[in-house]
Amino acid sequence: MKILVTGGTGYIGSHTVVELQQEGFEVIIIDNLSNSQAEIADQIARITGIKPVLEIIDLTDKEKTSAFFKKHNDLSGIIHFAAYKAVGESVEQPLKYYTNNLCSLLNVLEGMKENGIENFVFSSSCTVYGQPDVLPVSENAPVKPAESPYGNTKQVSEEILTDTVNVSKLKAIALRYFNPIGAHESAEIGELPQGVPNNLVPYITQTAKGIRDYLRVWGNDYDTPDGTAIRDYIHVVDLAKAHVVAVKRMIEDKMKSNFEVFNLGTGTGYSVLDVIRAFEKTAGIKLNYRIMDRRPGDIVKVWADPAFSNKELGWKAEQGLEEMMASAWKWEQAYREKFKD
Ligand code: WQD
Repeated sequence: MKILVTGGTGYIGSHTVVELQQEGFEVIIIDNLSNSQAEIADQIARITGIKPVLEIIDLTDKEKTSAFFKKHNDLSGIIHFAAYKAVGESVEQPLKYYTNNLCSLLNVLEGMKENGIENFVFSSSCTVYGQPDVLPVSENAPVKPAESPYGNTKQVSEEILTDTVNVSKLKAIALRYFNPIGAHESAEIGELPQGVPNNLVPYITQTAKGIRDYLRVWGNDYDTPDGTAIRDYIHVVDLAKAHVVAVKRMIEDKMKSNFEVFNLGTGTGYSVLDVIRAFEKTAGIKLNYRIMDRRPGDIVKVWADPAFSNKELGWKAEQGLEEMMASAWKWEQAYREKFKD
C-alpha cells in the first residue's frame, strides 16, 4: 500500500516515513525542502534499507500538485505534515503562514477529490487548546482563540476538514501533538533547526555541545511547583508510530466518524527545570543556564489526557523523559560529528 507523506523530510515526517516503511508501506515523499534536505531520504534508507521516492514540489503550486495526483492516483492514504511551524515567525509574517499552510492543504484536498483518494491524516497541534482551563486536556476541551497565526492555521485547517468530510468521501484524522522531542535511536535522523533554535530541547543539546553559551529559562515565577512552565514532552518515535496506527485505522475502516481527533501526548507534564535535570542526568553534563523574564505568549502549563487515544487507537507513548533526552543528545553529537560545523 502506497502512502504519500508531505513534509516527509522534516523532523516528524522523516521519523514517520521510517515507521511506515518498517510496517511494510510504500512511501512517497513530497517536500519543498524549505526546512529540510534531500539527503534525509538517504538517512532514512540507512535505517530501513529503502530509499523513499522524494518529489520536490511546493504544494502551494496548484498545477504541480494536481499533476502529481494524476500520476499517483493509487494512494491508500496521505499524511500531511508539510507546513511552516514557527510560532514567533508566524506573528511577524502572518500572510506567509496563511498562504503556505492553508493553500497547500486546499491543493492536497482538491487533488484527493479529483482522484478519489479518501484517507487523510493531518498534523494538528495542542496549540488549538490555547491556555487550557482544565488539566489534563482531553479532546473535548474547547478550542480557544488561537494565540498566533500558526495556531490559527491549525484551527482553520481542522475546520476545513470538518466541512469537507460532511460533503464528500473524505475521511480525516487530526492528530494534536503536544511537544515532540528526541530522535531516532540510530541517530541517523533527528531535529535539525535552522539557525538559533526556538525550542527547548535543541537549545539544551546545542548549549551542552558548546554551540550556545547558555540556555535561557523563560521565567521561574509561574504558578507551578518550581515556577517554570510545564509541557507534555513526547518522543518523536512514539508520535510517528501513532501515525501508522491512524493510517491503518482508516484503511481498515475502523473509524467511528469521518472526522476524528486525537491527542498525542504522554499524560505527564514536566517543567523546564525537570527537562534540564533529566538531560544533566543522562548526559552526565552540567548545563549552563540562566533564569530570564517570561517569554511573551508562553502557555503556563499544558499536558494531555491521552486516555481516548490510548483506548481508541490502542496506542500509548512508551518512552520516558530520560530516554527522550538521551536520544536527543546522541543525535546532536552524531550530527555535529558528521557535518562538523
Ligand atoms: C517549551 C518550554 C519555554 C526555549 C511548541 C512548538 C509549537 C507548538 C506547541 C506544535 C516553554 C521553555 C524554551 C528556551 C526555555 N507545537 N524554553 N528556553 O512553546 O511549548 O511550543 O509546542 O504545534 O510549534 O514550538 O515549545 O520547546 O519552545 O518551549 O525556557 O530556550 O521551554 O518557555 O516553557 P512550546 P518550546
